[in-house]
Amino acid sequence: MKGMVQTGPEAGQPPFGVMPLSDALGAEIIGLDLRERLSKSVFDAVLDTWHAHGVLLFRGQDLDETKQAAFGARFGDLGKVLNNHNGRSSTPGVMYISNVREDGQLVGALPDGEMFFHSDQCYVERPGMATMLYAMEVPSRGGDTLFANMYTAYETLPGRIRARIEGKLALNVYDYENNATTRGSEPREGVPSFAHPIVRTHPATGRRALYVNRLMTHHIVGMDRAESDALLDMIFDHQERPEFIYEHVWTPGDLLIWDNRCTLHARSNFDAAERRMMRRVAILGDKPY
Ligand code: OGA
Ligand code: MN
Repeated sequence: MKGMVQTGPEAGQPPFGVMPLSDALGAEIIGLDLRERLSKSVFDAVLDTWHAHGVLLFRGQDLDETKQAAFGARFGDLGKVLNNHNGRSSTPGVMYISNVREDGQLVGALPDGEMFFHSDQCYVERPGMATMLYAMEVPSRGGDTLFANMYTAYETLPGRIRARIEGKLALNVYDYENNATTRGSEPREGVPSFAHPIVRTHPATGRRALYVNRLMTHHIVGMDRAESDALLDMIFDHQERPEFIYEHVWTPGDLLIWDNRCTLHARSNFDAAERRMMRRVAILGDKPY
């Protein structure tokens, strides 16, 4: 109505609170119930907040597979699920990360223990843009997910290191000799691998971010191997410095979405005798540049 004072999203004020999770990255969004479909203006404000913080947390959510997949699909097309263990998920795009067994069979992927820092699917041409995890059951301690800010990791590299990686590609591989969570020896022939820029540009923010990681990056293309090993080790140590990291201690009902284009994530160890059940949705992305 003409002359009416508008409040809410139309007035430029998003109808939710934003609380930073750490000095490094991440923000909690307060006041949204994700069972309900968000209006376009509210979702656009969520998206802007996500781009500004890299990781978003929504606490106290009560989501089934369908509702979680529907919220994920607001960000983009959902990734295909390759490992629907034990037929657990009946919703396209939904899978589980879990150590729980039913009839002796795992119901999820990545069941046990620590995971090194990585960016999901960085060993394929078009890695997933984002990953969303919803906590259903969590161990009493450990099994935390750690996130590292790859914008600030890049920006704080010494200039001479930035110069050495400028315009270079690194080969990322998926090969862990039955252990997908920590790095083993030389990758075998024929394992999935793809060379991507060491520094990528985020398509939405235009900012540059480090895009290598300790779990999957094998070597810098066209560089002497000893030199590449030393340089990558230095970068891995730098990008995992505590000031770039937020460690999330899960509570059931937490929904987290992270941006694989500008963050890395890792997992702390936990007791294999305790149950951990997370529901996962991944959103497709474009080729890094
Ligand atoms: C993943 C992942 C970490 C965790 O789902 O890609 O890395 O905390 N999960 O389970
Ligand atoms: Mn992962």
